[in-house]
Amino acid sequence: MSEMDKKGRPVTSPIKVDDLWKSFGSQSVLKGLSFEVNSGETFVVIGGSGQGKSVLLKNIMRLMKADRGEVYIQGTPIMDLAQNELYSLRRKMGMVFQEAALFDSMSILDNVAFALRMHTKLSEKELLLHAREKLEMVGLRGVDQKFPSEISGGMKKRVGIARAIALAPEILLYDEPTTGLDPVLSSAIDELILKMQTDLSVTSIVITHDMKSALKIADRVLFLFQGGIRFLGTPQDLLQSDDPVVSQFVKGETQGPIGTL
Ligand SMILES: Nc1ncnc2c1ncn2[C@@H]1O[C@H](COP(=O)(O)OP(=O)(O)OP(=O)(O)O)[C@@H](O)[C@H]1O
Ligand SMILES: [Mg+2]
Repeated sequence: MSEMDKKGRPVTSPIKVDDLWKSFGSQSVLKGLSFEVNSGETFVVIGGSGQGKSVLLKNIMRLMKADRGEVYIQGTPIMDLAQNELYSLRRKMGMVFQEAALFDSMSILDNVAFALRMHTKLSEKELLLHAREKLEMVGLRGVDQKFPSEISGGMKKRVGIARAIALAPEILLYDEPTTGLDPVLSSAIDELILKMQTDLSVTSIVITHDMKSALKIADRVLFLFQGGIRFLGTPQDLLQSDDPVVSQFVKGETQGPIGTL
């Protein structure tokens, strides 16, 4: 029997991945992945290029359907949800895409207001106010009327985050939020991820190649390797791991078992 809270409701983790399998043709990408993310946790997924990190995130968003296994969002299995159910599921989740994926023909303010126009009944005045508030939260002022082509890569990432939080999601998913940014901007994005966790109490999964960022923001780190979990634990334990594969990846060394296995 599942654990109950004070009101007798079952305690369910925000995200649970259960025996997830995914192949493309003869290429097996995820081989029976299972883990749970705790409420309010910042859960970081690291791993080499092509190891299935984005595929995993797309399954959690149900933008892709696994061959086998299940993903539970707040206790609800999502693999067989109907289209209209998927729609309400995704309202609970914000996704920050690797390429900010902004609408080039819309102003920054309209980019953030877009989801509010689509999904809420707020008046025009209210929704613009709301969108401005989100832009302020990510530290962007004075860019409301600019277009994506007129702002820097780092600012675009911030707009991507402002848009992802517009609908006050309970879950935030980030795919490589700091890739391609200079170290100062990367740190600013890391701080923003931490601020989202404290200010909005969201549960987050962050995919990154950036070890410095992973160590700074993670409550726990999952290292994905050859379709399975090679390591799952705290950043401190990650640094102390004596698994040669984990240690090579963490130190970014060219010599070691990765590439020869
Ligand atoms: N829609 C698809 N069709 C066919 N193969 C795919 C598809 N999506 C991903 N793959 C393959 O699955 C593997 C894992 O891809 P994925 O994008 O998850 O890697 P990743 O870990 O996110 O890598 P990176 O760090 O470079 O972003 C790759 O070999 C990729 O070519
Ligand atoms: Mg990827």
